[in-house]
Amino acid sequence: MAKLGELYRRLTDSDMLILEYMVSNIRKYEYIPVENFMKKFRRLWSQKEVIARINKLNELGIVKKHESMDAYRLKIVGLDCIAIHRLVSSNVIKALGDSIGVGKESIIFKGLASNGDIVAIKFYRIGRRSFRHITKVRLYVTNEDSSWLIRSIVTGEREKEALTILNRHGIPGVPRLYGHALHTIVIEFIDGVNLYKVNRIDNPLEIFRQIINIIKNSYRYAGIVHGDLSEYNIMIQYSNDLKPYVIDWPQYVLADEPRALDVLKRDVIQLTKFFNRRFRVGIDPDGIIKHITTSNST
Ligand SMILES: Nc1ncnc2c1ncn2[C@@H]1O[C@H](COP(=O)(O)OP(=O)(O)OP(=O)(O)O)[C@@H](O)[C@H]1O
Ligand SMILES: [Mg+2]
Repeated sequence: MAKLGELYRRLTDSDMLILEYMVSNIRKYEYIPVENFMKKFRRLWSQKEVIARINKLNELGIVKKHESMDAYRLKIVGLDCIAIHRLVSSNVIKALGDSIGVGKESIIFKGLASNGDIVAIKFYRIGRRSFRHITKVRLYVTNEDSSWLIRSIVTGEREKEALTILNRHGIPGVPRLYGHALHTIVIEFIDGVNLYKVNRIDNPLEIFRQIINIIKNSYRYAGIVHGDLSEYNIMIQYSNDLKPYVIDWPQYVLADEPRALDVLKRDVIQLTKFFNRRFRVGIDPDGIIKHITTSNST
């Protein structure tokens, strides 16, 4: 995966035309017959040239040939390259750096935004193997026949939507969204560690209070419940003070959906359990849920 930037740099504008054509058909065909490519690009290139270009993409491992037919489909790295191309062309990013993390459902790279800010670039990887699990917990994915590339795109769009709403309401402790393309989001880079890796904090109750504040503001002002809150989706930034961030929002639920309150309770219970277990603080989740949904204090 560290080679993604290298792969991207080997692609020309013509290669991108082919890849864009493939992504525009992603909901129609899994494998696109070579004759379709020839028809599509007949004014630009000869049949031989079309075949040579597809072969190049095949050799780079960006597309995959069907076992028996003369037809090709995009591989996930192909989708990555298109997303990078779109993000660069639309002036969201100017550089892709090293990989900084591999999640269960994504890979994350460091990068540079056009204005020079350091950003995190998250490429979704909603894999085939965890499909059954995903349809159970990720209720928003409704089309069971869609390929995992489409599910990755849908998930990227979901996280973009959540962050757009949260940013619009100025909720602190949520990464800023710089841009989005297909299954990829570009967000503020958080220079910190995952909460699950933190074994000691001077004042755990203060950090807990700050996280609950993020959850409360998201619920009350942006109308959003996280839906997968845990020590894995919280990062702690160490600057002068410790500052928590809540990341990874694609499974969000709108506060006016019927199940929102149940999801909120599950989130709070999950977080409380972790703090009680790790930092021995003895927090009662019921009181916290009441505070989020009814009190006016901060
Ligand atoms: N904005 C960011 N800045 C810095 N690091 C980040 C950022 N977003 C994510 N990461 C790193 O990448 C990891 C995976 O991110 P995220 O939780 O969004 O994806 P995921 O696929 O759900 O991963 P996981 O299954 O591990 O939860 C995080 O745990 C964190 O270490
Ligand atoms: Mg996560």
